[in-house]
Amino acid sequence: MTSRDPRVPDWQALELSKTWADELDLARPSGLWRFLRSIFGQRRQVVVDAGHDLFRAIPKYALQEFHNLPNGNYSSRIARGYITGFDRAMLGSMHRIRQEIAERVTDAKAVLDIGTGGGKLAAAVQSVGVADVWGADVSPYLLKHAATDNPGVSFIQAPAEDLPFTDQRFDAVVVSFLFHEMPPKYVKQALAEAHRVLRPGGCLLIAEPSENQLLPVKLASLLTAKGWRHWYFKSLASRVYEPFVMAWHKQNKPAMFAEAGFELLQHRDEIPINFYSLKKRSTT
Ligand SMILES: C[S@@+](CC[C@H](N)C(=O)[O-])C[C@H]1O[C@@H](n2cnc3c(N)ncnc32)[C@H](O)[C@@H]1O
Repeated sequence: MTSRDPRVPDWQALELSKTWADELDLARPSGLWRFLRSIFGQRRQVVVDAGHDLFRAIPKYALQEFHNLPNGNYSSRIARGYITGFDRAMLGSMHRIRQEIAERVTDAKAVLDIGTGGGKLAAAVQSVGVADVWGADVSPYLLKHAATDNPGVSFIQAPAEDLPFTDQRFDAVVVSFLFHEMPPKYVKQALAEAHRVLRPGGCLLIAEPSENQLLPVKLASLLTAKGWRHWYFKSLASRVYEPFVMAWHKQNKPAMFAEAGFELLQHRDEIPINFYSLKKRSTT
């Protein structure tokens, strides 16, 4: 930590207001009905305590019911369920990619995980011996769980497109499943911010959903495990609400990364994850 770093809130002591998704009584038919209607039916406007500083900082586009979750990432209960449910739904692939990313940054002293959610990537980075690990996200509910589960990581509320760190603060920036949840204009700003907070030569590692999972599944491929995985992830992707995912898939990523001042070292596209390893160019 340096004297110019942002203050890290005491998340565990912080009381967050309950939202309607916390109040759902799933033991009662009416509560269960409301829950199921939210997951399978029409999405609603996310409701948060707009008067509170922590909620004023959230970009409008993030206040949606992503993944059909009741009140999106904005309730203690659903955020907790999401942290475990996401990994289960991804059949172990998130765990594997987080481990791979962590192992690629073992030499780093300071690493930032943007869009950290429940903090699992930041925790994986810390577990390989990186001393100074930060996680940034916009959802206070996810951050509170992240800080409770991973006390050795510094968690702050900050949008990827406006990071409260000094220039060249980090040796590596890591991102898992964030950019496809942002409108393209803000992805570009977030890349500019990642570039600014990285030291020259520092690395940016990105894992995002693969567009290949949207391709038609060949019937004959269902005789193989690979074919079933493709069918499963295609079905999952077509059912969850992700308003900006198609815009992300359409981006010319190599051009976008180059424009932001990064050199693309490696790209691996496998269902369900697209992985990019990038390096901040010394001069842009
Ligand atoms: C799909 S989750 C991924 C969470 C985590 N990285 C993981 O792999 O488990 C996307 C996360 O991005 C966060 N997020 C969305 N827009 C953001 C933004 N502009 N800045 C920072 N975080 C954002 C959400 O709150 C959510 O926690």
